[in-house]
Amino acid sequence: MNSYDIISKTKYGRELADEEIRWLVEGYVNGKIPDYQLSAWLMAVYFNSLSERETTALTLAMRDSGDVMDLSAIDGITIDKHSTGGVGDKTSLIIAPIVSASGVYVPKMSGRGLGHTGGTIDKLESIPGFKTELSFARFIEIVKKAGFSIISQSVDIVPADKKLYALRDTTATVDSIPLICSSIMSKKLAMGADCILLDVKLGSGAFMKTEESAKQLARAMVNTAVNSGKKCRAIITNMDEPLGDSIGNAIEIIEVIEILKGNKKGRLYELCIELSANMLEMAGKGNADECRRLAVEAISSGSAMEKLRLMIELQGGNPRIIDDYALLPQPKFSTDVLAQRSGYITEINSEEIGLTALRLGAGRVTKESEIDLSAGIKLNKSVGDYAESGEAIMTLYSSVESDFSEIADMARHAVTISEQASEKKPLIYDVVY
Ligand code: URA
Repeated sequence: MNSYDIISKTKYGRELADEEIRWLVEGYVNGKIPDYQLSAWLMAVYFNSLSERETTALTLAMRDSGDVMDLSAIDGITIDKHSTGGVGDKTSLIIAPIVSASGVYVPKMSGRGLGHTGGTIDKLESIPGFKTELSFARFIEIVKKAGFSIISQSVDIVPADKKLYALRDTTATVDSIPLICSSIMSKKLAMGADCILLDVKLGSGAFMKTEESAKQLARAMVNTAVNSGKKCRAIITNMDEPLGDSIGNAIEIIEVIEILKGNKKGRLYELCIELSANMLEMAGKGNADECRRLAVEAISSGSAMEKLRLMIELQGGNPRIIDDYALLPQPKFSTDVLAQRSGYITEINSEEIGLTALRLGAGRVTKESEIDLSAGIKLNKSVGDYAESGEAIMTLYSSVESDFSEIADMARHAVTISEQASEKKPLIYDVVY
């Protein structure tokens, strides 16, 4: 085998054998194949794509470049969930307690935020004392006791993805469906859960901006998981406006708790119930209606809230934050963003709101940036609401930024107010089995 022939085959749209793909990935990870040859191959994939079989082979070769978790010590069905990234997306923190309260284990590794999207790990780290870096043995112990645990991505998982993603990032080959699919699914397969639920975001704040591309990515990921012996489903969900009314870190933890306490309903609650019900159905807990009922009951009975309390305690965090939000990081400064005219809110652009939160200090510009865990945005309106001129449509919070004038302009720009109300887009576009 040699790299030149492999690059040529993909360039001319000819299928590679599984062994050729594995040889390429292994050779790149151990430094035998140089960046320039892998870059050429990635660009060939970008233009000619890969077949379903090739995509599965690439995913499995990437998975096997590092540790694959052995979850056999957990006596029961395990399920993992992945979101392709959004603004205000705190669904994992609501869903994992709901699903585990219904008897299905959720061992989960999550990432940190970068750019306009937030990360579950950063949100959890706003809880005083909370540890996201645990040994594998402790992680399993917590999953067994609390039903779920969320930790940060271990360095030993899929080293091939770290190397390949860095190369894709500098060679304009990130936005290729087989490459995104293999990057995401190699990490999910390395986690070793029996079932995987994928939340593929579509809209202004999402990676996928068109329904067609979101469906293609969802189909590729589900096929890859099923070809690798897993149960998998993808739900294509709306990311045209931020999820929930809070964007940031500590501020999102408060919203999670309010939902789990049953104090808050709306689109975020509805989405979490639907995603949880799909996970429970995949884990064999009943049909769609029965599983929806289980998810609703996990909140109304308080059992999901208790699961979160236990998990926080077991991971070293202060569980008293659940009853006293003042124990979470508090912002030093705040300002209201006022509507400049009366009318209906027709758009709250997720990406622009995410970038506003980033400017406030709630996110990371580079992987090394420090986060202000108290910073964020509280939206007082959602799409379809009416705002009077001069009414506060959102409040900005920060502990590092005290002059909000420029950031308030950014925030105002993210919101469109019109005379006519627009049609509300669906929360769930499609389910791919
Ligand atoms: N997220 C990933 O983990 N990989 C990609 O390629 C894109 C999004």
